[in-house]
Amino acid sequence: MASALRAVVLAAGKGTRMNSARPKVLHEAAGRPILHYVLDLCEELGAETVVVVGHQAAAVREACSSWPRLGFATQEPQLGTGHAVQVALGALPADAALPVLVLAGDVPLLRAGTLRALCALREDTGAAAALVSFKTSSPGAYGRVLRDGAGRVSGIIEAKDASAEQLRVDEVNASLYVFDGEKLGATIRHLRPNNAQGEFYLTDVIGLMVAKGERVEALLMSDPTEATGVNTAGELSGVEGELYARRTMALVGAGVSIERPDTVLVGPAVRVASGARIRAFTILEGVTRVEAGASVGPFCRIEDSEIGANATILDSCLVRSSRIEAGASVGPFAHIRPDSVVGENAKVGNFVELKKTHLGAGSKAPHLSYLGDATIGTKANIGAGTITCNYDGVVKSPTAIEDGAFVGSNSILVAPVRIGRGAYIAAGSVITKDVPAEALGLGRARQENKPGWASRRPKKH
Ligand code: UD1
Ligand code: CA
Repeated sequence: MASALRAVVLAAGKGTRMNSARPKVLHEAAGRPILHYVLDLCEELGAETVVVVGHQAAAVREACSSWPRLGFATQEPQLGTGHAVQVALGALPADAALPVLVLAGDVPLLRAGTLRALCALREDTGAAAALVSFKTSSPGAYGRVLRDGAGRVSGIIEAKDASAEQLRVDEVNASLYVFDGEKLGATIRHLRPNNAQGEFYLTDVIGLMVAKGERVEALLMSDPTEATGVNTAGELSGVEGELYARRTMALVGAGVSIERPDTVLVGPAVRVASGARIRAFTILEGVTRVEAGASVGPFCRIEDSEIGANATILDSCLVRSSRIEAGASVGPFAHIRPDSVVGENAKVGNFVELKKTHLGAGSKAPHLSYLGDATIGTKANIGAGTITCNYDGVVKSPTAIEDGAFVGSNSILVAPVRIGRGAYIAAGSVITKDVPAEALGLGRARQENKPGWASRRPKKH
């Protein structure tokens, strides 16, 4: 399907006010660079899109690699937003009949519906351009939208160029526009950098169009949240809060139960099935999946992991790059390190650390253990305080504990070592040799009792 719209995303600027070496549009909010939210919108609208890159162009292009159909235009040096659009027009499909949407790359809260309304406003009124504006009691550095006596948009004046009276205008420019393609091309050539910043301002296109007798419309937003641009670290955290809130609200709408959603952070690549429950102060991030009936939290962080159906992750657990299978229970206070699997209906209890360990179905490690590089069969019981000594300071070695084995409390399993199927390890053992199936492994000093020893001991004064 041919596109009915062309789009330019401005992403060449430095973002000086972020006080950071990273280009502004690559700062992350809710787990994604802010630019990605804008690229999603262009895709949703089916627009042929060109991203203007300049400052750290290679890094910005690289960050756009998941959108294979994007075009790029390099703006070097960056002489202003008008110059950026000039450069972009050369890279856009030349079909002048198609309108051109121009979006700042720093507006991650924007919704497609608003852009559709903007395009409809321009078409319905036959305007040469339509822009998004909003009113604010602190217009600060925003460009002010100027209107004539009849209330029609007459131009935009940048704060740095504005008179005291113009600075008092409370309607500001969001830096989101749609233009008639032909008229934009014809007008943008006439931009001149005679302003306080010595830049080619895209905003001047509006005044030039009006001067030529063209009509310009503004879509004045009643709720400006969506149009908020990110210019400072403070604005970035405000925007991030809103993005997370949208995500949790969408999940709640889809049937996920979330306790105190304002305390829960769910990353963009996380999927949570309806019927799952996320308790307060829990973070789900990376590529994580939580299945129906599972419960996670409170105070847990799950990263790049799968939580199976009806599994339970109790209070204060950290789970990374691991799989917790259906019906399993983990925590409270467990640390599941990468490449671990907690099998179906298995149990990992408090103060247990797993690393590269597979705990088989129905097996239990209920208390105070370190299990690293271990393969544990089904229905095994790992007693309190069991430790796999998987590291001798040079190499890491594996431990195998076969189905139904019973490891007594406070045992030390010096790897490499194998505990056979159904074998027992006496509590407090240090196991350095393989234990055959069904055997009892006992590796501790034998207890000796000395009758009457205490009464023969010299008495304390
Ligand atoms: C711009 C608008 C201002 C508006 C504000 C909203 C102009 C002249 N001013 O100001 O009216 O209220 O946005 O946030 O347009 N960029 C380039 N190349 C450049 C300069 C900027 O690609 O040479 C990109 C930036 O990366 C950014 C966007 O354009 O994504 C806006 O630039 P920014 O510096 O934030 O513009 P403001 O000064 O905030
Ligand atoms: Ca801005």
